[in-house]
Amino acid sequence: MAVSVRRKIKKVTKAVFPVAGMGTRFLPATKSIPKEILTLVDRPLIQYAIDEARAAGIKEFIFVTARGKSALEDYFDHSPELEATLRRAGKDDLLEVLRETNMDSGAIAYVRQNRALGLGHAVWCARRLIGNEPFAVLLPDDVIAAEKPCLQQMVEAYEQTGGNMVAAMEVPLEKTSSYGVLDVAEDMGSIVQVKGMVEKPKSDPPSNLAVIGRYILTPQVMVNLNKMKAGAGGEIQLTDAIAEEATTLGQVFGFRFRGQRYDCGSKAGFLQATVAFGLTRPDLRDEFSAYINDMVAMQKAAQ
Ligand code: G1P
Repeated sequence: MAVSVRRKIKKVTKAVFPVAGMGTRFLPATKSIPKEILTLVDRPLIQYAIDEARAAGIKEFIFVTARGKSALEDYFDHSPELEATLRRAGKDDLLEVLRETNMDSGAIAYVRQNRALGLGHAVWCARRLIGNEPFAVLLPDDVIAAEKPCLQQMVEAYEQTGGNMVAAMEVPLEKTSSYGVLDVAEDMGSIVQVKGMVEKPKSDPPSNLAVIGRYILTPQVMVNLNKMKAGAGGEIQLTDAIAEEATTLGQVFGFRFRGQRYDCGSKAGFLQATVAFGLTRPDLRDEFSAYINDMVAMQKAAQ
């Protein structure tokens, strides 16, 4: 079994954040703001992904952006006037909140995807910044609440396996057509050896284990993406480039993470995440849970 890889595994210090999508599902809100800036309680979606990457030891953050996404670049920049105003007002707590959003000079890079050719193409746009190193990919739409952040769990597992690793989660069979789906060679519990992957299968999914938007990938995946082969939906799929590694080298693993995933790319998922995060935030939970309980009681009474 390939899980007991002995050779030295290179540390994962770079992460790619594909943020070029138009976010049409959130129109009209996304007409003038990137969907990654939509707020879950009081922080933009992208902040959750950045925090998770930081916790996993990521030092270089590569954003694949597009036209209309400049608000994202501003978000991670220092804001000298705002900071000076808060300092003068003695609002140290808010200064601390802002500090989380600042990136060290040179730690963050932006590349543009100038044509919407799919997730695989977006990741490929970062190839020169990745070079010959393993790298993580985080899809900010997938927000994962977990005691130990999901990517950190994956980095720990990857230190045992090497190769390529994708976050995986069981979904109802009828939902598999919305995901990349794993073809399982060997199920070892939290780690699954994969022999193939299918993007959004229309029928006959190979399993009900779906890919969730966290990946640790070898630079060979970028080489596979060079072929620019269109897959499901006519798009260049990341899933296909990873699947090639499973079929040639058997070097792909699924990782069943511990945590709750919210699909913040959909309105229902975003609302669920808002409620769940609101209920766990120490500064909000008492007031918010009282409100939710009242709402539920009122609805029951009305039935
Ligand atoms: C992308 C990937 C898919 C994965 C999903 C997870 O699809 O292509 O393999 O299962 O993210 O959220 P999207 O939801 O962007 O269409």
